[in-house]
Formats: sequence, structure tokens, C-alpha cells
Amino acid sequence: MTLPSLVLNQRRILITGAARGLGEAFARACLQAGAKVVIADVQVERGRALASELGGHAHFVEMDVSRQDSVQQALQNALAWLGGLDGLINNAAITNSGGKLMHELQEEMFDRVMQVNIKGVWLVTTAAATALAASGSGRIVNIASDTALWGAPRLLAYVASKGAVMSMTRSMARELGDQGITVNAIAPGLVVGESTEYVPAARHAHYQAGRAIQREQLPEDCTQAVVFLLSQAAGFISGQVLPVNGGFVMN
Ligand SMILES: NC(=O)c1ccc[n+]([C@@H]2O[C@H](COP(=O)([O-])OP(=O)(O)OC[C@H]3O[C@@H](n4cnc5c(N)ncnc54)[C@H](O)[C@@H]3O)[C@@H](O)[C@H]2O)c1
Repeated sequence: MTLPSLVLNQRRILITGAARGLGEAFARACLQAGAKVVIADVQVERGRALASELGGHAHFVEMDVSRQDSVQQALQNALAWLGGLDGLINNAAITNSGGKLMHELQEEMFDRVMQVNIKGVWLVTTAAATALAASGSGRIVNIASDTALWGAPRLLAYVASKGAVMSMTRSMARELGDQGITVNAIAPGLVVGESTEYVPAARHAHYQAGRAIQREQLPEDCTQAVVFLLSQAAGFISGQVLPVNGGFVMN
């Protein structure tokens, strides 16, 4: 069997929260693998600028994953541009409450994390499911976090939301399997980037010392696992959570 040189050749991929950070890295990696990508984000200026920098195979749509009307409208816009959908990366998320002990969290903070990180995954996945089923080999990759695997302190709302993402990955895999759709998750470790600049140096050092591969983790360390899970080669893998963290947590 000859494998195509571009593993996502012509595949149509929607990535939430792709205006910056890991989502941006996923967009670049999918394009390099031959895909067409839609970047969906609440950050309009940044998302548009990125799409235009990335060229003719990238497009931006405004989407707030926590609002059903916004998700449905954005999905329509994405499908109109892509002409269908083969893959979805549920990447958009907020931390919002990082560094605080659980008794320091405010109710609105906690609720907002659940709305974006949990409800958002449900809303986008349900909105995209029909189009992914029509693909015949639809792929969903949810971006969880290894904080939910090792019980990270001072991050309770976020950790709870990422545990839910792992649980939803398994149930969604069973609900969507008969439509030819696989659903998997990756659980990155602490990645160097804009969103983790606030994290104290001691926490970065704790992660680095605890890894089997003792160096900092970069967005690019996460991308090829996602490309693989989106590819035709991963067609019999579903309901799995893959830690991509240099061996900080091993399952
Ligand atoms: N950076 C890390 O160390 C790390 C580790 C493990 C998991 N993750 C996960 O990786 C994913 C990306 O994280 P990141 O560090 O790149 O974060 P980031 O903050 O850099 O990027 C998140 C993106 O999501 C967008 N977004 C936020 N709320 C949104 C909403 N309601 N609707 C649509 N878009 C929204 C933001 O505008 C931003 O562009 C998240 O799911 C995060 O939980 C990150």
C-alpha cells in the first residue's frame, strides 16, 4: 500500500481557539500536512490576521464556543467555505482561575470555565456531527490536559473541566462510532507560550524535572500526535486519551 505523502491531503479541518497558542500550531501543522483549515475564535482581528498570513487554504470564522447561536452560525460559515468537514479539533479553552486555591475561586469564574471548556466541546461537536458523518471518516480530537491526570493544585476549575473533556471523549466515541467518526483526546503537559507566561517558574521547573524527557515543552511537541489522530491511519483508534507531555504523567 502506498501512503499519501501529505497525510491530511485535502482534508477539511475546523479548529476552535486557533487564533493563537496551541490552536495556531495545530492550524500550521494541518496545513503542512495538506489540509484546508478553518480557524474559529472569539479573537477576530488576530484570527483574521493569522488566516491571511497562512494563505489560501486557511479561513477565519468568528465563534464563541460557549454560545449555541454563535456556534451554529460559525459552523454554517465554515461549511460554506470548506464544502464539508472531515476533522474537528476542540481546542478552545480558558484557564481563568489559574494559580488560585479552590477556596479563592469565585462562582462566576468557575461557571465560565465550565461554559467554555465543557459546554463548548459539546456544542461544537453536536453542531459538527452531521457534516463529520457525511465525510465517511470523520475525526474529532479534543484537547484535554495532563493536569487532570496528576491532580494539579491551584487550578481546580480548569482541572475539573479537562477531566470532563476526557470523559466526554469516551462517551462521544461510542455515540458517534457508528457514523464512522472517531473521537480521541490528547493531554498536553505544561507548554511554553502566551497562556502560560503567568505560571510561576517553580511550576515550570517541577514539570521539567518530572519529565522522562527533561526539557521544556513547546506547541510543536503536540502537533504531530493530533495530525496522526486526524489522519486516515488512525481509523481504528477511538475513545482514547493520549498524554503528550514528555513522560510527566504515564498511564
Ligand atoms: N498551554 C498549555 O500549557 C496547555 C497544557 C495542556 C492543555 N492545554 C490546552 O490546549 C488548548 C489551547 O491552549 P493554549 O495554551 O494555546 O491557550 P491560549 O489561551 O493561548 O489559546 C486559546 C484560544 O482559545 C480562544 N478562546 C477562548 N475562549 C473562547 C471561546 N469562548 N470561543 C472561541 N474561542 C475561544 C482564545 O481567544 C485563544 O485564541 C486548551 O484547550 C488548553 O486547555 C494547554
